[in-house]
Amino acid sequence: MKLGIIGAMETEVSALKEAMEVDKVVTKAGMDFYEGTLHGKQAVVVQCGIGKVNAAMCVQILADLFEITHVLNTGVAGSLNADLNIGDILVSEKAIQHDVNVTIFGYQVGTVPGFESREFTADAVMADAVADACKRANPDVNIVKGCVVSGDQFISDAKVKDYLISEFHGDCAEMEGASIAQAAVLNKIPFVVVRAISDKADGSAQMDYPTFENQAAEHCAKMVSEFVKSF
Ligand code: ADE
Repeated sequence: MKLGIIGAMETEVSALKEAMEVDKVVTKAGMDFYEGTLHGKQAVVVQCGIGKVNAAMCVQILADLFEITHVLNTGVAGSLNADLNIGDILVSEKAIQHDVNVTIFGYQVGTVPGFESREFTADAVMADAVADACKRANPDVNIVKGCVVSGDQFISDAKVKDYLISEFHGDCAEMEGASIAQAAVLNKIPFVVVRAISDKADGSAQMDYPTFENQAAEHCAKMVSEFVKSF
């Protein structure tokens, strides 16, 4: 097993890099890939930058240059589910790209032509192990399994939020998870997305996000560390 761990921002991966025994750092496409062992497991930790293109490129590099067997995306997200409050954790069962629209040619919104479904299914074994690790690491934190919706947009409008809920039944919104999912599926690599809630993806998001981003990101990275120990 060799686990690729991707975070979009420095705060999402810094704790993991610190916990790692680094063998080497490889820079490719402007991204620094930290290869080594994390809690005795082979791992590559990388900050991919924000958005779907960065995230998908990162998966391809992890597949080609590092031959990872599994990929995990950690970070923060806006909540689309009334049961998910700031600080809570969402573990992916599936991921959808909400900004893909080829409906004019009969595709369901979110479906990338060439794929049977708009939903990319996360690896159930990884998702269960992540959820168990989160419960062990912090029994007081609310953990929900559900649907991650991703697009190249920060969601901070209640109307857009309502659309993401009614159209996709999304539980959280962020900007990388579903493109990591698509790239992982194309490479036949099992994936999971785990996100701590930093905001409610509505009119309060602009205020809440900077306040809770660091706290939520570090919190999520600790859960990921716990997962790696047991996986
Ligand atoms: N990441 C954290 N909060 C988000 C939001 N509201 N929209 C998109 N990505 C996010």
